Amino acid sequence: MDENHDPPIEDESSSSSSGTSRRGFLTQVAVAGAGLTLAPLLTGAQEIILETPPAQPQTSMVILTVNGQKHTLNMDERTTLLDALRENLAMPGTKKGCDHGQCGACTVLVNGRRINSCLTFAAMHQGDEITTIEGLAKGDELHPMQAAFLKHDAFQCGYCTPGQICSAVGLINEGHAKTDADIRELMSGNICRCGAYQNIVEAIKEVKNV
Ligand code: FES
Ligand code: FES
Repeated sequence: MDENHDPPIEDESSSSSSGTSRRGFLTQVAVAGAGLTLAPLLTGAQEIILETPPAQPQTSMVILTVNGQKHTLNMDERTTLLDALRENLAMPGTKKGCDHGQCGACTVLVNGRRINSCLTFAAMHQGDEITTIEGLAKGDELHPMQAAFLKHDAFQCGYCTPGQICSAVGLINEGHAKTDADIRELMSGNICRCGAYQNIVEAIKEVKNV
């Protein structure tokens, strides 16, 4: 009886049942893999790199009604309403803060409702009545909300103020705010880095109670 149970050591040169040695098999796999990248070098063929050409912007004719005036613009279809106002119409009153719908600096009124103009395409608002901070006053007469912000010192640096005022006008139109807490909650989409919140609430209360 054979006392030695260890399997016999395989001769590296011996062939498997398919006729290929283990070392030979591994060598073939390695060469096959390398062949994918070495092929051009080995064959002398030129490697061709296909590059996707940059997408050409699609431009369209867009008609916007801003502060009662119609404007016909030929613009990239992906232009946000905020950029259309600031860049295409040269109306910088509407501010760009985050450009991500988080600060409210870009708030404008569309058909009387407040929206973040950085989150919507200009082309989606053909036929809408768009009102910006530039369109609130009537000539030299300030909108009551603008006058109330002045009276109550409801700003410091002023960067958030156009958005705050447009948002406050929208809030009054909605008619939901009954208390100071309501005003704070319903104005919470408009951030003021200067922290003029208490004075903003006072200004809105004054207009709301007229
Ligand atoms: S710039 Fe639109 S929400 Fe901040
Ligand atoms: S007044 Fe400065 S951010 Fe509001």
